[in-house]
Amino acid sequence: MPTHTMRAIRLHEHGGPEVLRDDEVPVPEPGPGEVLVRVHAAGVNPPDWYLRAGMSGLPPETRPKFDLPVIPGTDLSGVVEAVAADVDGLSVGDEVFGLLRFPGFDGSAYAEYAAAPASDLALKPAGIDHVHAAGAPMAGLTAWQFLIELGHDHPPTFQAAKHRPVPLDAGMTVLINGAAGGVGHFALQLAKWKGARVIAVASGTHEPFLRELGADEFIDYTRHRPEEVVRDVDLVLDTVGGPDSRRLLHTLKRGGSQFPVFPGRFDEEENAKLGVTVSITQVRSNGAQLADLGRLLDAGTVRVAIDSTFALADARAAHERASRGHIQGKIVLTVA
Ligand SMILES: NC(=O)c1ccc[n+]([C@@H]2O[C@H](COP(=O)([O-])OP(=O)(O)OC[C@H]3O[C@@H](n4cnc5c(N)ncnc54)[C@H](OP(=O)(O)O)[C@@H]3O)[C@@H](O)[C@H]2O)c1
Repeated sequence: MPTHTMRAIRLHEHGGPEVLRDDEVPVPEPGPGEVLVRVHAAGVNPPDWYLRAGMSGLPPETRPKFDLPVIPGTDLSGVVEAVAADVDGLSVGDEVFGLLRFPGFDGSAYAEYAAAPASDLALKPAGIDHVHAAGAPMAGLTAWQFLIELGHDHPPTFQAAKHRPVPLDAGMTVLINGAAGGVGHFALQLAKWKGARVIAVASGTHEPFLRELGADEFIDYTRHRPEEVVRDVDLVLDTVGGPDSRRLLHTLKRGGSQFPVFPGRFDEEENAKLGVTVSITQVRSNGAQLADLGRLLDAGTVRVAIDSTFALADARAAHERASRGHIQGKIVLTVA
């Protein structure tokens, strides 16, 4: 049985990595539909530092307010320690991984224990350890929901129309910008799984890594601008996104699609003139899709690359690592 208190990283104020505090807090009680997970590893994702910074990238009047103190973190891998009475299908001792309550910001995974909705979890693939499993949920589900299957009927967050993945096959070329990062390296492998030809765009040091994951072509964006050297691509997945994403439209063939993973600025008239579609979605927790991804992880069809690991108490150093950029795969906190 768990003790009544645990170590957890909390924010008492918003700011830089130094506001991540190692605290002693009560072990959470699983609510209806939830299980208590003994966390073995917690993945680090961009929303963790957006929360830490108080969404400082948004105009002040549109920033959401968070109740502080708060435990950040959405991704975990661990072992079920207790199960609410209404939960079927998970038992004490099961090894699980998941993206918790996203797009909420109350996953609270940077802790020794987390209360997790059972529907957000899947059994951890037996063939990978907790560190690798904790690196998969948010980035893997983002790639899955953009490229393979949306998997829900919630109203779209960033656009009027529902996001629709483009069916991928061997006749298609996909350009992945930011291919070495968390989302990018999963997207590359999922596109290869579907048989597509993949052009990976990243800084030069990532070339051997991305070739090993299956990239057919590699563009070092510090030497060449993809929009100047690539034409007639069927799909662009731009994990960098933002205001600069629009330039990549020029790599597309007519009828092609661009999926900016981070919202950018596009012009409907330009899209229509080029004959292309731009579509974005926001990742959502989904245990069933994670189980599908888990089968690919177990089979070795898709692998989780680990950029670096840090002990839970060193979450500050993990965020400092993230702030230096050029991430290759995932940053993970080791807990148990
Ligand atoms: N829509 C959603 O639901 C959703 C879900 C998850 C993430 N996101 C967003 O997607 C973005 C990526 O997330 P992530 O977890 O994959 O981040 P990440 O792990 O930090 O990866 C970002 C990658 O982009 C590369 N990069 C940086 N500048 C670049 C440039 N100018 N051109 C090409 N590559 C560049 C970086 O390495 P190099 O520069 O060394 O190549 C790094 O590998 C974040 O903005 C995140 O907020 C959105």
